[in-house]
Amino acid sequence: MDNKIVLTGIKPTGRPHLGNYIGAIKPALNLAKELESLSIFFIADYHALTSIKNPELFKEYTYDVAATWLAMGLDPNKVIFYKQSDIPQIFELSWILSCFTPKGLMNRAHAYKAKVDENKAKNIDIDMGVNMGLFTYPILMAADILLFNSNIVPVGKDQVQHVEIARDIANAFNNCYGEIFTEPSYLIRQETAVIPGLDGRKMSKSYNNTIPLFCEPKELKNLINKIKTDSSLPNEPKNIDSPLFLLYKEFATDEQIEEMKEKFINGIPWGEVKKELFEVINSFLETPRKKYNYLMNNRHLIDEILEEGAKKAQEICIPNLNKIKEKIGCQ
Ligand code: ADP
Ligand code: TRP
Repeated sequence: MDNKIVLTGIKPTGRPHLGNYIGAIKPALNLAKELESLSIFFIADYHALTSIKNPELFKEYTYDVAATWLAMGLDPNKVIFYKQSDIPQIFELSWILSCFTPKGLMNRAHAYKAKVDENKAKNIDIDMGVNMGLFTYPILMAADILLFNSNIVPVGKDQVQHVEIARDIANAFNNCYGEIFTEPSYLIRQETAVIPGLDGRKMSKSYNNTIPLFCEPKELKNLINKIKTDSSLPNEPKNIDSPLFLLYKEFATDEQIEEMKEKFINGIPWGEVKKELFEVINSFLETPRKKYNYLMNNRHLIDEILEEGAKKAQEICIPNLNKIKEKIGCQ
């Protein structure tokens, strides 16, 4: 997989949570370490504009996501790291790609479809509350990916369809002008594809069931205590598929995991599991939390890193866009 381009983005729509870290940030950072490849990570802030219309929050969440990547180990000297809105070439390409995207493909995209289904169930106009940003969201995402000729896109399960759409759009363009775009592949980690939240549903900002990555220890403890468990008695064996064990595995050492597995088999009170889960997560996050707080209190440092990153990204994407424009005949 060497010499391949790995690219992924996170949209700043709320405080990053354990699901985002385990499902997206951690695998992406590991991949960047493992491969001799170019890694490109970015903050998809214009994607967030489909839902965040408050300028203070928009800014806050953008810094929050940037500080999170950096605190969790992203090295801006090794990885290209930028903010989507700093790269106007993405939006130029997005228009070009929209001219190669059948409308029917967008009708089937899951975020739009979910909104339509919700409206149908309420017996109101099917497009109520749908802005064109939401409708064409996958085209902008395809532009993010295709502009850099990305090969591998590490994402959570819910984003697979979007990467497939990017492939379809690349294909449509290539069929017309020859092999211009690289067809991207998604990469998901099956075992952690969906991290459950406090209520057992997928951990998601939209469900209000998240554990923010950098909440203070007291809040972390409180939230872990809220994770739903079954009603087995304290000494009874516990189900290894429990969200608690799933989370524990992500932060504990191999030895700790083995010990916890034994305890699950022999019986351990849920309260004890929660206490140990808090200990491993909290100690894992102690140093990153300090770094995160430092960056959030020194935002000019984040600005500088992102500006530098945008310059590096443009060294790649400006020539790429020029080639595309040449192909369609506007240059
Ligand atoms: P949210 O659902 O909280 O709004 P996003 O849609 O912003 O999260 O997701 C950002 C990235 O994190 C995506 O790659 C997504 O697939 C991944 N992700 C989000 N929630 C989870 C989860 N519960 N488990 C695994 N990955 C997740
Ligand atoms: N749509 C992704 C999400 O909601 C974020 C995103 C935007 C993205 N552009 C991307 C992810 C390109 C991977 C590649 O999480």
